[in-house]
Amino acid sequence: MGDPLFDADATAGVLRRVSEAAGPYLDSLAERPVYDPDAVSLLAELSTLTPDGGLPEQGIGTAAAAERLLRVGTAAATHSAGPRFFHFVIGGTTPAALAADWTTSLLDQNAAFLASSRFAAEVEWVALRWLRELFGLPETYGGALVASATFANFTSLAVATHWWAERHGVDVAANGLAGLPRMPVLSGGYVHASVRKALQMLGHGRDTVEVYAADRVGRVDLAAVERRLAELDGPAVLVASAGEVNAGDFDPIEALADLAERHGAWLHVDGAFGLFAALSPRTAHLVRGIDRADSIACDGHKWLNVPYENGFAFVREPARLAAAFGMPGSAYLPGPGSPLWSKPAGRGRPDAAGGGTAAPATGSGDVAVSAGPVNYSSFGPESSRRARALPIWATLAAYGRDGYRAMVERQLDLAQRLARLVDEAPELERLAEVPLCIVCFRARPAHVAAEALDDLNRRLGAALLDDGRVFAGTTVYDGRVALRPAIVNWRTTEADIDLLVEVVRELVARLAPPRP
Ligand SMILES: Cc1ncc(COP(=O)(O)O)c(C=O)c1O
Repeated sequence: MGDPLFDADATAGVLRRVSEAAGPYLDSLAERPVYDPDAVSLLAELSTLTPDGGLPEQGIGTAAAAERLLRVGTAAATHSAGPRFFHFVIGGTTPAALAADWTTSLLDQNAAFLASSRFAAEVEWVALRWLRELFGLPETYGGALVASATFANFTSLAVATHWWAERHGVDVAANGLAGLPRMPVLSGGYVHASVRKALQMLGHGRDTVEVYAADRVGRVDLAAVERRLAELDGPAVLVASAGEVNAGDFDPIEALADLAERHGAWLHVDGAFGLFAALSPRTAHLVRGIDRADSIACDGHKWLNVPYENGFAFVREPARLAAAFGMPGSAYLPGPGSPLWSKPAGRGRPDAAGGGTAAPATGSGDVAVSAGPVNYSSFGPESSRRARALPIWATLAAYGRDGYRAMVERQLDLAQRLARLVDEAPELERLAEVPLCIVCFRARPAHVAAEALDDLNRRLGAALLDDGRVFAGTTVYDGRVALRPAIVNWRTTEADIDLLVEVVRELVARLAPPRP
């Protein structure tokens, strides 16, 4: 098989095969183990097209390649799209989002420019508006759809860097960090590793974060943050966590917003999954004050339940996105002043910022409200980019605010159910309150010595992954090794939570059998 042009007729058949396989695969997710160790041997099929596993000189053709990938993938993948994957913070894909993701590949739009896809830009503009409305953020916030929360933190902190350098009289987008002092970044102990990674990528260094924690759990020491802000001679960046990964706790965002205001600091909130607290009156207090943040990071592929790669950043002064990410200087690309920087018919200024705000990319922050879609490549880190707005648009269109509120509240209930089952099990010990969707607990059988508990819980975490019926990971919370299942998949039901506890108890009994 050679040039794909001569295999074009295979397209309809091969897509039909994917669609035929999808139904049974998705139906099986509710019952099958998260991971099947017996399927690992199938991975060899990925490199058996040639004797040494190298690139085939002659391809096997569209149908055979697709068939092989489907066969290996549906068996050997981690079935994290299903309801029993509680490791990390991983959502599934709603039916509408999945259909839209297939449509995204079908249409294969480059969502970089209005000139490359007016359609993609329009969907992105609507999606950003709906997301703002979902979270109750002011319409003046601009937004960028990016690949993940790591990239949303990166995007936000790039904009913060631009702001901070401007305070020092430097256009960092043009001239870089040379000659500037170190950018002060202050946080409590909940700060996520991806914030450090973002700072590392931005040239500040991951160790630039100054952590002010009041205890071993990581709760922020507000007084210490305030003292440091007062002592600093110049602008600083505050990072707040809306939903930390061990127990789903929140930094006091309102208090941090007060501090930022008093000291002229930039407030960035990492709400990768915790921003969804805004959706329910039961948890909205946890994000009170978030509408005073200068930037906010969130993930779509977590609690929104859209496919990878999907995250978003919101920025209070949208013009700063364009100031940080604009890419002038190439004649063939759309840019301010070029005829390709086409103005959407009837509304909006094409030099407006992401989410659609009408302001020039001066970084002044003096902006007016959104009017229409823009050249989104100038408002985030990527240039050519997938039309990742389509699954967001479709899932919000399909289920609306009510549907998402209902899903989030069902998952809040499931987290409380898990907490209750843990509390009722004599050999389990819950280590933290459950404000949102994560339950932090450990095995603590009465006959196991205190100094052996960390080892037992580490082995329990490994045994859970080996077993494969449910997935949950370990962490260290308050100095103790613990499990921290996170519940954000739209498919998860009470039966899955009950199974999680059943499997954990079974494994604890096996790893630390009661003394006769
Ligand atoms: C609070 C927080 N921030 C950032 C991230 C990074 O998300 P991603 O892996 O999507 O980049 C996570 C991931 O779990 C998170 O929980």
